[in-house]
Amino acid sequence: MALSRKLVQQRSSVFGSRSMSWWRSVEPAPKDPILGVTEAFLADPSPDKVNVGVGAYRDDNGKPVVLQCVREAERRIAGNLNMEYLPMGGSVKMVEETLKLAYGENSEHIKDNRIAAVQALSGTGACRLFADFQKRFRPESQIYIPVPTWANHHNIWRDAHVPQKTFHYYHPETKGLDFAGLVDDIKNAPNGSFFLLHACAHNPTGVDPSEEQWKEISKLIKEKGHFPFFDMAYQGFASGDPERDAKAIRIFLEDGHLIGIAQSYAKNMGLYGQRVGCLSVLCEDEKQAVAVKSQLQMLARPMYSNPPVHGALVVSTILGDQELKTLWLKEVKGMADRIIGMRTALRENLEKVGSPLSWEHVTNQIGMFCYSGMTPEQVDRLTNEFHIYMTRNGRISMAGVTTGNVGYLANAIHEVTKST
Ligand code: LMR
Repeated sequence: MALSRKLVQQRSSVFGSRSMSWWRSVEPAPKDPILGVTEAFLADPSPDKVNVGVGAYRDDNGKPVVLQCVREAERRIAGNLNMEYLPMGGSVKMVEETLKLAYGENSEHIKDNRIAAVQALSGTGACRLFADFQKRFRPESQIYIPVPTWANHHNIWRDAHVPQKTFHYYHPETKGLDFAGLVDDIKNAPNGSFFLLHACAHNPTGVDPSEEQWKEISKLIKEKGHFPFFDMAYQGFASGDPERDAKAIRIFLEDGHLIGIAQSYAKNMGLYGQRVGCLSVLCEDEKQAVAVKSQLQMLARPMYSNPPVHGALVVSTILGDQELKTLWLKEVKGMADRIIGMRTALRENLEKVGSPLSWEHVTNQIGMFCYSGMTPEQVDRLTNEFHIYMTRNGRISMAGVTTGNVGYLANAIHEVTKST
Protein backbone atom coordinates (compact mmCIF):
# COMPACT_ATOMS: atom_id res chain seq x y z
CA MET A 1 0.00 0.00 0.00
CA ALA A 2 1.32 3.44 -0.90
CA LEU A 3 2.52 5.54 2.02
CA SER A 4 0.75 8.84 2.56
CA ARG A 5 2.66 11.86 1.27
CA LYS A 6 2.95 13.28 4.82
CA LEU A 7 4.47 10.04 6.13
CA VAL A 8 6.96 9.95 3.26
CA GLN A 9 7.96 13.55 3.97
CA GLN A 10 8.34 12.80 7.68
CA ARG A 11 10.46 9.74 6.98
CA SER A 12 12.69 11.37 4.45
CA SER A 13 13.30 14.35 6.71
CA VAL A 14 14.23 12.02 9.58
CA PHE A 15 16.55 9.86 7.45
CA GLY A 16 17.79 12.91 5.59
CA SER A 17 18.78 14.75 8.72
CA ARG A 18 20.31 11.61 10.20
CA SER A 19 22.40 10.85 7.16
CA MET A 20 23.48 14.48 6.95
CA SER A 21 24.79 14.33 10.50
CA TRP A 22 26.98 11.27 9.90
CA TRP A 23 30.04 13.18 8.71
CA ARG A 24 29.30 16.60 10.19
CA SER A 25 32.19 16.37 12.63
CA VAL A 26 34.73 15.48 9.93
CA GLU A 27 37.28 18.25 9.47
CA PRO A 28 39.44 18.48 6.32
CA ALA A 29 42.69 16.54 6.74
CA PRO A 30 45.92 18.53 6.74
CA LYS A 31 47.77 18.58 3.42
CA ASP A 32 50.39 15.88 3.02
CA PRO A 33 53.79 17.55 3.51
CA ILE A 34 55.18 15.93 0.34
CA LEU A 35 52.29 15.16 -2.02
CA GLY A 36 50.62 18.46 -1.05
CA VAL A 37 53.62 20.23 -2.60
CA THR A 38 52.89 18.57 -5.96
CA GLU A 39 49.27 19.74 -5.74
CA ALA A 40 50.38 23.33 -5.09
CA PHE A 41 52.93 23.13 -7.94
CA LEU A 42 50.32 21.89 -10.41
CA ALA A 43 47.95 24.72 -9.44
CA ASP A 44 50.57 27.43 -10.08
CA PRO A 45 50.22 28.98 -13.58
CA SER A 46 53.70 30.59 -13.51
CA PRO A 47 55.94 29.62 -16.48
CA ASP A 48 58.96 29.82 -14.16
CA LYS A 49 57.75 27.23 -11.68
CA VAL A 50 60.10 24.48 -10.51
CA ASN A 51 59.14 21.33 -8.61
CA VAL A 52 61.86 19.96 -6.38
CA GLY A 53 59.36 18.54 -3.90
CA VAL A 54 58.38 14.94 -4.49
CA GLY A 55 61.12 12.36 -4.96
CA ALA A 56 60.36 11.40 -8.53
CA TYR A 57 63.08 11.24 -11.17
CA ARG A 58 62.98 13.65 -14.10
CA ASP A 59 65.20 13.82 -17.18
CA ASP A 60 67.29 16.89 -17.92
CA ASN A 61 64.24 18.47 -19.57
CA GLY A 62 62.25 18.04 -16.37
CA LYS A 63 60.10 15.29 -17.89
CA PRO A 64 59.07 12.00 -16.17
CA VAL A 65 61.05 9.00 -17.42
CA VAL A 66 59.93 5.50 -18.38
CA LEU A 67 63.01 3.29 -18.55
CA GLN A 68 63.75 1.51 -21.82
CA CYS A 69 63.93 -1.82 -20.01
CA VAL A 70 60.38 -1.21 -18.75
CA ARG A 71 59.11 -0.34 -22.23
CA GLU A 72 60.71 -3.52 -23.59
CA ALA A 73 59.26 -5.65 -20.78
CA GLU A 74 55.82 -4.17 -21.46
CA ARG A 75 56.18 -4.98 -25.14
CA ARG A 76 56.97 -8.60 -24.27
CA ILE A 77 54.07 -8.85 -21.81
CA ALA A 78 51.44 -7.14 -23.98
CA GLY A 79 48.76 -9.48 -25.23
CA ASN A 80 50.54 -12.57 -23.94
CA LEU A 81 49.18 -13.02 -20.45
CA ASN A 82 45.87 -13.29 -18.69
CA MET A 83 44.63 -11.02 -15.92
CA GLU A 84 43.99 -13.65 -13.25
CA TYR A 85 44.43 -12.88 -9.57
CA LEU A 86 47.89 -13.22 -8.16
CA PRO A 87 48.18 -15.32 -4.98
CA MET A 88 47.74 -13.37 -1.72
CA GLY A 89 51.52 -13.16 -1.41
CA GLY A 90 51.88 -11.84 -4.97
CA SER A 91 54.13 -12.92 -7.83
CA VAL A 92 56.48 -15.68 -6.71
CA LYS A 93 58.88 -14.91 -9.55
CA MET A 94 59.01 -11.20 -8.76
CA VAL A 95 59.56 -11.88 -5.06
CA GLU A 96 62.37 -14.36 -5.83
CA GLU A 97 64.21 -11.84 -7.99
CA THR A 98 63.65 -9.05 -5.46
CA LEU A 99 65.12 -11.06 -2.60
CA LYS A 100 68.28 -11.65 -4.63
CA LEU A 101 68.78 -7.89 -4.92
CA ALA A 102 68.63 -7.39 -1.17
CA TYR A 103 70.09 -10.60 0.26
CA GLY A 104 72.54 -11.34 -2.57
CA GLU A 105 72.50 -13.54 -5.67
CA ASN A 106 73.97 -16.51 -3.79
CA SER A 107 72.36 -15.91 -0.43
CA GLU A 108 72.39 -18.88 1.95
CA HIS A 109 69.26 -17.50 3.58
CA ILE A 110 67.40 -17.71 0.30
CA LYS A 111 68.70 -21.26 -0.35
CA ASP A 112 67.64 -22.31 3.14
CA ASN A 113 64.12 -20.90 2.60
CA ARG A 114 64.43 -18.82 5.73
CA ILE A 115 62.87 -15.68 4.30
CA ALA A 116 59.15 -14.99 4.58
CA ALA A 117 58.42 -12.63 1.70
CA VAL A 118 55.36 -11.22 -0.02
CA GLN A 119 54.78 -8.75 -2.81
CA ALA A 120 53.70 -5.43 -1.33
CA LEU A 121 52.17 -2.21 -2.59
CA SER A 122 55.56 -0.58 -3.06
CA GLY A 123 57.71 0.49 -0.11
CA THR A 124 54.86 2.18 1.73
CA GLY A 125 52.73 -0.95 1.56
CA ALA A 126 55.66 -3.08 2.71
CA CYS A 127 56.29 -0.83 5.72
CA ARG A 128 52.59 -0.79 6.59
CA LEU A 129 52.26 -4.56 6.32
CA PHE A 130 55.26 -4.95 8.60
CA ALA A 131 53.88 -2.41 11.09
CA ASP A 132 50.61 -4.32 11.24
CA PHE A 133 52.50 -7.59 11.64
CA GLN A 134 54.59 -6.06 14.43
CA LYS A 135 51.45 -4.87 16.22
CA ARG A 136 49.72 -8.23 15.88
CA PHE A 137 52.59 -10.42 17.07
CA ARG A 138 54.59 -8.07 19.31
CA PRO A 139 51.71 -5.94 20.64
CA GLU A 140 53.76 -4.40 23.45
CA SER A 141 56.59 -3.25 21.18
CA GLN A 142 57.54 0.24 19.99
CA ILE A 143 59.39 1.44 16.91
CA TYR A 144 62.46 3.68 17.05
CA ILE A 145 62.44 6.10 14.09
CA PRO A 146 65.34 8.36 13.02
CA VAL A 147 65.13 12.14 13.30
CA PRO A 148 64.36 13.21 10.72
CA THR A 149 62.77 10.57 8.52
CA TRP A 150 60.39 10.31 5.57
CA ALA A 151 57.21 11.97 6.92
CA ASN A 152 55.03 9.01 6.01
CA HIS A 153 56.93 6.65 8.33
CA HIS A 154 55.24 8.38 11.25
CA ASN A 155 51.80 7.97 9.67
CA ILE A 156 52.40 4.31 8.89
CA TRP A 157 53.34 3.20 12.39
CA ARG A 158 50.74 5.55 13.93
CA ASP A 159 47.94 4.02 11.89
CA ALA A 160 49.18 0.55 12.82
CA HIS A 161 48.91 1.66 16.48
CA VAL A 162 52.58 1.00 17.21
CA PRO A 163 53.98 3.56 19.69
CA GLN A 164 56.90 5.56 18.30
CA LYS A 165 60.16 6.63 19.85
CA THR A 166 62.88 8.53 18.00
CA PHE A 167 66.63 8.24 17.74
CA HIS A 168 69.26 10.83 16.81
CA TYR A 169 70.41 10.65 13.21
CA TYR A 170 71.16 14.01 11.60
CA HIS A 171 73.40 16.71 12.99
CA PRO A 172 72.08 20.15 11.89
CA GLU A 173 75.42 21.88 12.44
CA THR A 174 77.60 19.47 10.49
CA LYS A 175 74.75 18.61 8.10
CA GLY A 176 76.03 15.06 8.46
CA LEU A 177 75.43 12.06 10.69
CA ASP A 178 75.03 12.43 14.44
CA PHE A 179 76.84 9.16 15.02
CA ALA A 180 77.45 9.71 18.74
CA GLY A 181 73.77 10.50 19.34
CA LEU A 182 72.69 7.51 17.29
CA VAL A 183 74.99 5.15 19.19
CA ASP A 184 73.76 6.46 22.57
CA ASP A 185 70.13 5.99 21.56
CA ILE A 186 70.74 2.41 20.42
CA LYS A 187 72.45 1.68 23.73
CA ASN A 188 69.78 3.36 25.83
CA ALA A 189 66.75 1.78 24.14
CA PRO A 190 65.27 -1.15 26.08
CA ASN A 191 66.74 -4.47 24.89
CA GLY A 192 64.74 -6.01 22.06
CA SER A 193 63.44 -2.75 20.57
CA PHE A 194 62.49 -2.32 16.91
CA PHE A 195 64.68 0.10 14.91
CA LEU A 196 63.70 1.58 11.55
CA LEU A 197 66.82 2.08 9.40
CA HIS A 198 67.14 3.52 5.89
CA ALA A 199 69.29 1.01 4.00
CA CYS A 200 70.80 3.68 1.72
CA ALA A 201 70.19 7.20 0.42
CA HIS A 202 68.48 8.36 3.60
CA ASN A 203 65.29 10.31 2.97
CA PRO A 204 65.19 13.28 3.57
CA THR A 205 68.82 13.99 4.55
CA GLY A 206 70.93 12.21 1.94
CA VAL A 207 73.23 11.27 4.83
CA ASP A 208 74.24 7.60 5.17
CA PRO A 209 76.55 6.00 7.73
CA SER A 210 79.93 4.92 6.36
CA GLU A 211 80.70 1.20 6.05
CA GLU A 212 82.64 1.33 9.33
CA GLN A 213 79.76 3.10 11.04
CA TRP A 214 77.27 0.51 9.76
CA LYS A 215 79.50 -2.23 11.20
CA GLU A 216 79.44 -0.48 14.56
CA ILE A 217 75.67 0.03 14.40
CA SER A 218 75.16 -3.63 13.54
CA LYS A 219 77.36 -4.74 16.43
CA LEU A 220 75.49 -2.56 18.93
CA ILE A 221 72.06 -3.57 17.68
CA LYS A 222 73.14 -7.21 18.03
CA GLU A 223 74.40 -6.68 21.57
CA LYS A 224 71.11 -5.10 22.56
CA GLY A 225 68.99 -7.75 20.81
CA HIS A 226 67.13 -5.08 18.81
CA PHE A 227 65.22 -5.90 15.62
CA PRO A 228 66.50 -3.94 12.58
CA PHE A 229 63.86 -3.12 10.00
CA PHE A 230 65.28 -1.65 6.78
CA ASP A 231 63.37 0.60 4.45
CA MET A 232 65.23 0.28 1.14
CA ALA A 233 63.35 2.61 -1.20
CA TYR A 234 66.42 3.83 -3.11
CA GLN A 235 68.56 0.80 -3.91
CA GLY A 236 70.81 1.94 -6.77
CA PHE A 237 70.19 5.64 -6.23
CA ALA A 238 73.01 6.17 -3.73
CA SER A 239 75.99 4.83 -5.67
CA GLY A 240 74.41 3.96 -9.01
CA ASP A 241 74.91 0.26 -8.24
CA PRO A 242 72.16 -1.74 -6.47
CA GLU A 243 74.72 -4.27 -5.23
CA ARG A 244 76.84 -1.62 -3.50
CA ASP A 245 73.74 0.02 -2.07
CA ALA A 246 72.83 -3.26 -0.31
CA LYS A 247 76.03 -3.04 1.75
CA ALA A 248 74.37 -2.14 5.06
CA ILE A 249 72.00 -5.08 4.76
CA ARG A 250 74.83 -7.47 3.93
CA ILE A 251 76.76 -6.32 7.01
CA PHE A 252 73.77 -7.10 9.21
CA LEU A 253 73.32 -10.49 7.53
CA GLU A 254 76.98 -11.36 8.07
CA ASP A 255 76.55 -10.48 11.73
CA GLY A 256 73.71 -12.97 12.02
CA HIS A 257 70.79 -10.62 12.57
CA LEU A 258 67.21 -11.53 11.87
CA ILE A 259 65.99 -8.55 9.86
CA GLY A 260 63.00 -7.18 7.98
CA ILE A 261 63.23 -5.29 4.66
CA ALA A 262 60.80 -3.11 2.72
CA GLN A 263 61.82 -2.91 -0.96
CA SER A 264 60.37 -0.72 -3.66
CA TYR A 265 60.68 -0.39 -7.43
CA ALA A 266 59.13 3.10 -7.49
CA LYS A 267 62.44 4.91 -7.86
CA ASN A 268 65.00 2.47 -9.19
CA MET A 269 62.75 1.13 -11.96
CA GLY A 270 60.66 4.28 -12.25
CA LEU A 271 57.51 2.26 -11.51
CA TYR A 272 56.06 4.91 -9.20
CA GLY A 273 52.38 4.43 -9.98
CA GLN A 274 52.57 0.66 -10.45
CA ARG A 275 53.10 0.17 -6.71
CA VAL A 276 55.48 -2.78 -6.82
CA GLY A 277 57.50 -3.76 -3.80
CA CYS A 278 58.28 -6.53 -1.39
CA LEU A 279 58.23 -7.14 2.34
CA SER A 280 60.60 -9.78 3.65
CA VAL A 281 61.30 -11.09 7.14
CA LEU A 282 64.34 -13.26 7.73
CA CYS A 283 63.36 -16.06 10.12
CA GLU A 284 65.20 -18.63 12.23
CA ASP A 285 64.28 -21.53 9.96
CA GLU A 286 62.04 -22.60 7.11
CA LYS A 287 59.17 -23.65 9.37
CA GLN A 288 59.06 -20.21 10.95
CA ALA A 289 59.28 -18.54 7.55
CA VAL A 290 56.27 -20.53 6.32
CA ALA A 291 54.28 -19.45 9.39
CA VAL A 292 55.30 -15.79 9.09
CA LYS A 293 54.50 -15.68 5.38
CA SER A 294 51.06 -17.17 6.00
CA GLN A 295 50.38 -14.46 8.60
CA LEU A 296 51.55 -11.70 6.26
CA GLN A 297 49.12 -13.04 3.68
CA MET A 298 46.43 -13.13 6.32
CA LEU A 299 47.01 -9.42 6.94
CA ALA A 300 46.89 -8.65 3.22
CA ARG A 301 43.70 -10.59 2.46
CA PRO A 302 41.17 -8.34 4.27
CA MET A 303 43.07 -5.19 3.24
CA TYR A 304 43.50 -5.62 -0.52
CA SER A 305 43.17 -9.37 -1.03
CA ASN A 306 46.12 -9.73 -3.39
CA PRO A 307 48.47 -7.25 -5.05
CA PRO A 308 48.25 -5.90 -8.62
CA VAL A 309 49.77 -7.95 -11.39
CA HIS A 310 51.09 -5.65 -14.11
CA GLY A 311 54.03 -3.98 -12.34
CA ALA A 312 55.11 -7.31 -10.85
CA LEU A 313 55.23 -8.78 -14.35
CA VAL A 314 57.32 -5.89 -15.58
CA VAL A 315 59.82 -6.42 -12.75
CA SER A 316 60.03 -10.20 -13.12
CA THR A 317 60.41 -9.87 -16.90
CA ILE A 318 63.31 -7.44 -16.50
CA LEU A 319 65.14 -9.21 -13.68
CA GLY A 320 64.54 -12.66 -15.15
CA ASP A 321 66.27 -11.78 -18.42
CA GLN A 322 70.01 -11.10 -18.42
CA GLU A 323 69.88 -8.65 -21.30
CA LEU A 324 67.07 -6.60 -19.76
CA LYS A 325 68.67 -6.71 -16.34
CA THR A 326 71.93 -5.35 -17.76
CA LEU A 327 70.00 -2.57 -19.46
CA TRP A 328 68.24 -1.79 -16.17
CA LEU A 329 71.54 -1.56 -14.27
CA LYS A 330 72.86 0.82 -16.91
CA GLU A 331 69.74 2.97 -16.68
CA VAL A 332 69.82 3.09 -12.85
CA LYS A 333 73.41 4.25 -13.04
CA GLY A 334 72.42 6.87 -15.61
CA MET A 335 69.77 8.29 -13.26
CA ALA A 336 72.11 8.32 -10.26
CA ASP A 337 74.88 9.96 -12.31
CA ARG A 338 72.59 12.71 -13.58
CA ILE A 339 71.66 13.53 -9.98
CA ILE A 340 75.31 13.56 -8.90
CA GLY A 341 76.03 15.94 -11.78
CA MET A 342 73.22 18.23 -10.64
CA ARG A 343 74.63 18.31 -7.09
CA THR A 344 77.91 19.63 -8.48
CA ALA A 345 76.07 22.09 -10.72
CA LEU A 346 73.91 23.42 -7.87
CA ARG A 347 76.90 23.93 -5.59
CA GLU A 348 78.92 25.61 -8.35
CA ASN A 349 76.03 27.91 -9.20
CA LEU A 350 75.55 28.88 -5.54
CA GLU A 351 79.24 29.72 -5.31
CA LYS A 352 79.10 31.60 -8.61
CA VAL A 353 76.23 33.86 -7.50
CA GLY A 354 78.36 34.76 -4.47
CA SER A 355 76.65 32.90 -1.65
CA PRO A 356 78.84 33.33 1.43
CA LEU A 357 77.46 30.13 2.98
CA SER A 358 79.08 26.72 2.73
CA TRP A 359 77.28 24.40 0.30
CA GLU A 360 79.69 21.50 0.66
CA HIS A 361 76.88 19.29 1.98
CA VAL A 362 75.09 19.51 -1.38
CA THR A 363 77.84 17.36 -2.89
CA ASN A 364 78.61 15.33 0.26
CA GLN A 365 75.06 14.03 0.66
CA ILE A 366 73.90 11.21 -1.60
CA GLY A 367 70.77 9.77 -3.18
CA MET A 368 67.77 11.66 -4.45
CA PHE A 369 67.68 14.40 -1.84
CA CYS A 370 69.71 17.29 -0.56
CA TYR A 371 68.84 18.43 2.95
CA SER A 372 69.71 22.03 2.35
CA GLY A 373 69.47 23.45 5.86
CA MET A 374 66.96 26.08 4.71
CA THR A 375 64.28 27.04 7.23
CA PRO A 376 60.52 26.67 6.60
CA GLU A 377 60.30 30.46 6.25
CA GLN A 378 63.04 30.50 3.61
CA VAL A 379 61.26 27.69 1.76
CA ASP A 380 58.03 29.72 1.90
CA ARG A 381 59.86 32.64 0.30
CA LEU A 382 61.20 30.38 -2.45
CA THR A 383 57.65 29.28 -3.19
CA ASN A 384 55.91 32.63 -2.87
CA GLU A 385 58.51 34.80 -4.59
CA PHE A 386 60.18 32.37 -7.03
CA HIS A 387 57.55 29.64 -7.67
CA ILE A 388 59.99 26.99 -6.44
CA TYR A 389 58.17 24.13 -4.74
CA MET A 390 59.79 21.93 -2.11
CA THR A 391 59.00 20.46 1.29
CA ARG A 392 59.15 22.90 4.20
CA ASN A 393 61.89 20.90 5.94
CA GLY A 394 64.33 22.29 3.36
CA ARG A 395 64.63 19.06 1.36
CA ILE A 396 65.47 19.55 -2.31
CA SER A 397 64.62 16.67 -4.62
CA MET A 398 67.78 16.71 -6.76
CA ALA A 399 65.88 14.60 -9.29
CA GLY A 400 63.90 17.70 -10.26
CA VAL A 401 67.01 19.86 -10.84
CA THR A 402 68.01 20.26 -14.49
CA THR A 403 70.61 22.07 -16.56
CA GLY A 404 67.81 24.47 -17.46
CA ASN A 405 66.66 25.39 -13.94
CA VAL A 406 69.79 25.00 -11.78
CA GLY A 407 70.92 28.61 -12.27
CA TYR A 408 67.47 29.99 -11.42
CA LEU A 409 67.28 27.71 -8.38
CA ALA A 410 70.74 28.69 -7.10
CA ASN A 411 70.00 32.38 -7.50
CA ALA A 412 66.69 32.08 -5.64
CA ILE A 413 68.31 30.06 -2.83
CA HIS A 414 70.99 32.74 -2.52
CA GLU A 415 68.32 35.48 -2.34
CA VAL A 416 66.44 33.84 0.52
CA THR A 417 69.50 32.73 2.48
CA LYS A 418 71.83 35.71 2.10
CA SER A 419 70.66 37.54 5.22
CA THR A 420 71.28 34.53 7.52
C1 LMR B 1 59.20 11.25 -1.40
O1 LMR B 1 59.75 11.16 -0.29
O2 LMR B 1 59.10 12.33 -2.00
C2 LMR B 1 58.67 10.02 -2.06
O3 LMR B 1 58.98 8.91 -1.31
C3 LMR B 1 57.26 10.12 -2.46
C4 LMR B 1 56.30 9.94 -1.32
O4 LMR B 1 55.42 9.09 -1.44
O5 LMR B 1 56.41 10.64 -0.31
